[in-house]
Amino acid sequence: MALQDDTRKHATDVDSTIAALLLNWYDANHRELPWRTPPRDLARGDRPDPYRVWLSEIMLQQTTVEAVKPYFRAFLEKWPDVRSLAAADAEDVMKAWAGLGYYSRARNLKACAEAVAALPGSRFPDTEAGLRALPGIGPYTAAAIASIAFNLPAAVVDGNVERVVTRLFSIATPLPEAKPEIRAHVERMLAVARPGDFAQATMDLGATICTPRRPRCMLCPLRDHCSAVANGDPEFYPVKPPKAERPTRRGAAFVAVAADGAVLLRKRPGKGLLGGMTEVPTTGWTSRIDGVTGPDSAPFEAEWQRAGGITHVFTHFALDLEVYRAEVGSLDLPDGHFWSAPADLGGEALPSVMKKVIEAAIPGATQRGR
Ligand code: ADE
Repeated sequence: MALQDDTRKHATDVDSTIAALLLNWYDANHRELPWRTPPRDLARGDRPDPYRVWLSEIMLQQTTVEAVKPYFRAFLEKWPDVRSLAAADAEDVMKAWAGLGYYSRARNLKACAEAVAALPGSRFPDTEAGLRALPGIGPYTAAAIASIAFNLPAAVVDGNVERVVTRLFSIATPLPEAKPEIRAHVERMLAVARPGDFAQATMDLGATICTPRRPRCMLCPLRDHCSAVANGDPEFYPVKPPKAERPTRRGAAFVAVAADGAVLLRKRPGKGLLGGMTEVPTTGWTSRIDGVTGPDSAPFEAEWQRAGGITHVFTHFALDLEVYRAEVGSLDLPDGHFWSAPADLGGEALPSVMKKVIEAAIPGATQRGR
């Protein structure tokens, strides 16, 4: 394979030493993660399950390991393999995903499962190019699956890896311009014998030792080779570009409660922010435009009472929502709206922002029925 030859050609003694130290450290200190096949099992001949690797990598995009664990377990219990996920009801998948955020990922997850289930043997492709061709799999995820599931020497570069490498080599170029330089280092260091473990070792080092703040350099297996440690300034790296201002948008949300405690919900359009997820009626805020505020902006007349407010921070903006609540008797259901009984509410495809809204109006309501 071209990358392998290339890697061997350019790896220096230092690169090979770093890779060996990192792998030794990983053997003794890797995190036990529900989707991971640890080195002791690999040594016994176990092979990672590409389905588990893929599912975890999609969930881990933009989400922490701790947040992902319960979701990963719940998905595996419901859908233990790619065929079962491909056959799942799309709405059930959205419900199981609710709270993980970035809901287009859940839609792509289902589409990808269907695409893989249609392949011979329902097997994931075992090349980066084959993986890239699937819905929701970009360059990072393709490299991660190729390396972790199939032990191919693909350069896996996530935020943790960027931090480790910019420190090791004192790369002061700001991100994202530094990415090609970082990648070149990773390709040189790539342990050709155990690329999957090398990728996971770099991630684990970044998550547990080479942390953004107060890195634990005294415990680091690479300390003697780290240029930033030698210069006494590891926290200086990676150099980030100046932060764009995050605007605050405003709007109002309306929690209508029926006599039996059911809450009025509706489904958001399939495309765009929180696409296909469920919400209470709100005024028309977007990432660019404020919604109307105040009780007069309600979608229908009722005795709306202020029930507090919530703030939710999205990637590109923060949202302040006024929350109103009303007890509603008979009502002509507006188009696309439905009542969710108290026992069903916790299982609806409610994004975190909507859980906050409903909790502000009816404390504990989204905890029941989960
Ligand atoms: N973050 C993203 N993928 C990961 C993995 N496979 N192991 C640990 N952290 C990760």
